Amino acid sequence: MAVVAIYSPKGGVGKTTIATNLAWCSAQLSSHRTLLWDLDPTDGAGFMFALEGQRKRQARSLFAGDIPASALICPSSYAGLDLLPSDASLRELDSMLLRLGQRNRIATLGRQLERSYDRLILDCPPVLNELSGQIMRAATVVIVPLPPSPLSARAFDYVAEEIRRQTRRPPPILPLYSMIDRRRSLHLEALAANPDWPMIPLVSSLEQCAVQRRPVGTFAPRTPAALALSRLWQGIERKLAQVAAAAPTPG
Ligand SMILES: Nc1ncnc2c1ncn2[C@@H]1O[C@H](COP(=O)(O)OP(=O)(O)OP(=O)(O)O)[C@@H](O)[C@H]1O
Ligand SMILES: [Mg+2]
Repeated sequence: MAVVAIYSPKGGVGKTTIATNLAWCSAQLSSHRTLLWDLDPTDGAGFMFALEGQRKRQARSLFAGDIPASALICPSSYAGLDLLPSDASLRELDSMLLRLGQRNRIATLGRQLERSYDRLILDCPPVLNELSGQIMRAATVVIVPLPPSPLSARAFDYVAEEIRRQTRRPPPILPLYSMIDRRRSLHLEALAANPDWPMIPLVSSLEQCAVQRRPVGTFAPRTPAALALSRLWQGIERKLAQVAAAAPTPG
């Protein structure tokens, strides 16, 4: 199972929009058994799939080891895609992880899901703490959505440095422009500065995901946003294949 973390310490950069749409791409376009794990107490991923608030204040029990993940996982309306939901009990997750003193709790819980899923997509909260450190140690790749501004490269370098600080074997880190508006010169300059970075356009169809509570591929499949997300997912799959090919063979 590969673990794809959608992470940034910055809020409102498109993490949940991207995580939910990529999870749908993984299940529906690549036919992978996919679990979307919402680690943000605001339960945005659950909301995006109209599955929020199904179980109250139980998410922390998973981390405490009181219940298995299977007790919390909900199927979505899409074949091959399940949700491990969040709730307000995760507000204290960071202090709980510190109290537990297990530096790889997220990775350990992830390994328990290995037989049931091919892809685990993490929708991360905008934090820089023990929780984000554990996410970095558990991830196979980390996708970092960045707003298109001249500060983006700097912000990305900062995240990359933090990830290297957290683990001796840092996962590949993929930067992504998350809200490109080609009518704005600053956005065009950002694109020109990093022409190899993938990008997602700033468009109403992606805002609509939170209104319709569905992935864009289900209601506007041929739009630039849906195509950009599908291309992004294919790029992530290529990176996962490279990581798997480079991994030492067992025995
Ligand atoms: N490419 C896009 N085009 C237009 N609107 C977008 C795009 N990406 C995200 N949005 C909108 O921007 C807002 C923030 O997006 P989202 O919740 O995905 O960000 P986030 O990084 O998960 O935020 P948080 O840090 O609060 O969890 C939402 O209203 C969403 O609909
Ligand atoms: Mg979010």
